[in-house]
Amino acid sequence: MEVSSNTPAVVTGGASGLGEATARALAAKGAKVAIFDMNEEKGEAVAKDIGGIFCKVNVTSDEDVDAGFAKAREAHGQERILVNCAGIGNAIKTAKRDKQTGEISHFPLSAFDFVIQVNLVGTFRCIAKSAAGMMTLDPLSEDGDRGAIVNTASVAGEDGQIGQAAYSASKGGVIGMTLPIARDLMQEGIRVNTILPGIFNTPLMNAAPPQVKEALAASVPFPKRLGDPEEYAKLAMCMIETGYFNGEDVRLDGAIRMAPR
Ligand SMILES: NC(=O)c1ccc[n+]([C@@H]2O[C@H](COP(=O)([O-])OP(=O)(O)OC[C@H]3O[C@@H](n4cnc5c(N)ncnc54)[C@H](O)[C@@H]3O)[C@@H](O)[C@H]2O)c1
Repeated sequence: MEVSSNTPAVVTGGASGLGEATARALAAKGAKVAIFDMNEEKGEAVAKDIGGIFCKVNVTSDEDVDAGFAKAREAHGQERILVNCAGIGNAIKTAKRDKQTGEISHFPLSAFDFVIQVNLVGTFRCIAKSAAGMMTLDPLSEDGDRGAIVNTASVAGEDGQIGQAAYSASKGGVIGMTLPIARDLMQEGIRVNTILPGIFNTPLMNAAPPQVKEALAASVPFPKRLGDPEEYAKLAMCMIETGYFNGEDVRLDGAIRMAPR
């Protein structure tokens, strides 16, 4: 599907990092972009900059997501593109012993559930509601292409590190559901693909001290640097625009395989 002038698109997590870069890449091709994010200040600023709209959406809320799609569709028409980038992480061991006191504790289940709700259920919520909307559209090509969906997992969905049980489970869920969702939607001409980013230079990473960033960069086989959000956006655009790209989970990681810690 060619992204052309006025193609309606929704990007979750579009206020920052990988989502922001993708929102900008879509807008550069003329797409009308609606940003779904909880960060109102940054989301409004990006939307203004790219001639799109901001919708204050928490992807864990059914009401928020419904209201976001209603607002986006009213402004731009039914979206043909959905890119899911909203996500969070935490780092807690499944069970641990305090080195000083010997006290034993375990991963609080509420913290585990929260990550699953945002990264996995939130992504599925947006996919299901967007796909139902896309199904009302006329096909664009002889193939019957109606729309394209891109999700964001993580290399941690395959090689999760110490403390990443919840994050890895959520991203592994996104990886695992890509093919069955593509199969669910195959007769409706809606393609679904997922990107597994390695370590990318986003605001999330900017919080880390320079020596930590240097060590992370050195751990990448080639090229020895963090990924550029624009490289993520390039792959997302390729997945959207290449009609034969469907049901795939693709690592974008400079050949990194994460060590236990
Ligand atoms: N940066 C990396 O190295 C990296 C690596 C692998 C995977 N990822 C994944 O890529 C995605 C984007 O990460 P990023 O690095 O751009 O992070 P980021 O923090 O820069 O951007 C994430 C955006 O998601 C929004 N968000 C968080 N929870 C939300 C919710 N419940 N509802 C709506 N919006 C919400 C935030 O406000 C933020 O604007 C995440 O899913 C992350 O897990 C990032």
